[in-house]
Amino acid sequence: MRISVIGCGYLGAVHAACMAKLGHQVIGIDVDEAKIAALSNSKAPFYEPGLDELLEEVQASGRLSFTTDMAEAAASSVHFICVGTPQKKGENGADMTFVDAAASDLLEHLGPGDLVVGKSTVPVGTASRLSDVIRAQEPDAHLVWNPEFLREGHAVADTLSPDRFVYGVSDGSEDHPAVSVLDEVYSAPLAGGTPRLVTDHPTAELVKTAANSFLATKISFINAMAELCEAAGADVTQLADAIGMDDRIGRKFLNAGIGFGGGCLPKDIRAFMARAGELGADQALTFLREVDSINMRRRTRVVELTRELCGGTLLGKRITVLGAAFKPESDDVRDSPALSIAAQLQLQGAVVTVTDPKALANAAKRFPELHYEPETHVSVEKADALLLLTEWQEYQNLDPYELGRRVESPRILDGRNVLDSEKWRAAGWTYRGLGRP
Ligand code: UGA
Repeated sequence: MRISVIGCGYLGAVHAACMAKLGHQVIGIDVDEAKIAALSNSKAPFYEPGLDELLEEVQASGRLSFTTDMAEAAASSVHFICVGTPQKKGENGADMTFVDAAASDLLEHLGPGDLVVGKSTVPVGTASRLSDVIRAQEPDAHLVWNPEFLREGHAVADTLSPDRFVYGVSDGSEDHPAVSVLDEVYSAPLAGGTPRLVTDHPTAELVKTAANSFLATKISFINAMAELCEAAGADVTQLADAIGMDDRIGRKFLNAGIGFGGGCLPKDIRAFMARAGELGADQALTFLREVDSINMRRRTRVVELTRELCGGTLLGKRITVLGAAFKPESDDVRDSPALSIAAQLQLQGAVVTVTDPKALANAAKRFPELHYEPETHVSVEKADALLLLTEWQEYQNLDPYELGRRVESPRILDGRNVLDSEKWRAAGWTYRGLGRP
């Protein structure tokens, strides 16, 4: 099939490469010339494991190319909208500028029978609105909302074999013409057993925001338990293991720590609350405000714990932050709790060095005032305290004995509860976890 993918960021670049991998003829379109130049050279403009190799493979096959020219979409009959919906400046709602621009730029290139597939995370009601715009231009074209559930760091595998497909079509019916077209696009994963659900437009849009809200709630739930564990002298990691053994609860996404960040969960729960307000259903989501504030409280808590760890003051203390990305296997620093904590510590008088295997360039753009050091062993030299804030495997593998010889004082705050506390204590370190005695 001939497919266009509009928007080549974290979502679109991966989607374009994966659609070509599935055997389709794909054109990736973006307004950013630098991004298109990099992608055309098989270089993703961000770090995602396996993506550069996949880009190279599918570009060599001739099935994938990139352009800034929307007119090239005219050769395709299926058009994926993969642009971002960031949080509006100074407001909770989602900024729809990019989605609206992508849809309107695409309009004049649509032909009869074309399918427009929305993948971006949008406020409920967007699909029906865009569907009307599309049908006004090309009465024989259809819009389907097909939310994306990929995780950064696992994006290629999540796209090639997702947990499920959700197709939101105007009448919510299996017989809608868009269903068979998308079935053909996804024939390989469908044949591999990925289930698919056909819904109406608003349900498909809500599935995405509901899923992210549930994940955010799960993380804030365990972080609230961490606060309680700290007050009661209990251990939240054991608590999570024990409640997670109940199938109905499950252990995944119950890792207490510095909280969630990234380009999705924080802005999605806020946009969801804003949209619920517009629909007159704000009461239904007031709990998400609490989810958000529990999450933000983690960052303040880590700053306070670091002060305690440093003997009551941060002034002039040399602090090394291990990890800047919002999660491991990513260079994404959007709303990264690690970086936000690093910046807070610096504002409160600490001398902060940040290290990360992949995210330092992005971090330096966001917080140029922090000091960055790519080599872990150099970054910890003479430190008064280490903070492990992004659980990269290489930080989990650090040898406390070897590290102990480099730092000024062997003190570590494990912001992700991933280190073996007994091992670090045995090596002479003062170890602090979050929600652990
Ligand atoms: C999230 C969802 O997991 C994806 O399903 C969704 O497609 C994506 O948003 C999106 O909307 O595009 P992602 O932002 O890549 O994916 O990252 P997650 O793996 O969900 O992690 C989010 C944050 O939660 C990270 O900061 C992570 O460190 C934190 N987290 C996760 C915890 O603090 N504890 C946990 O137990 C799990």
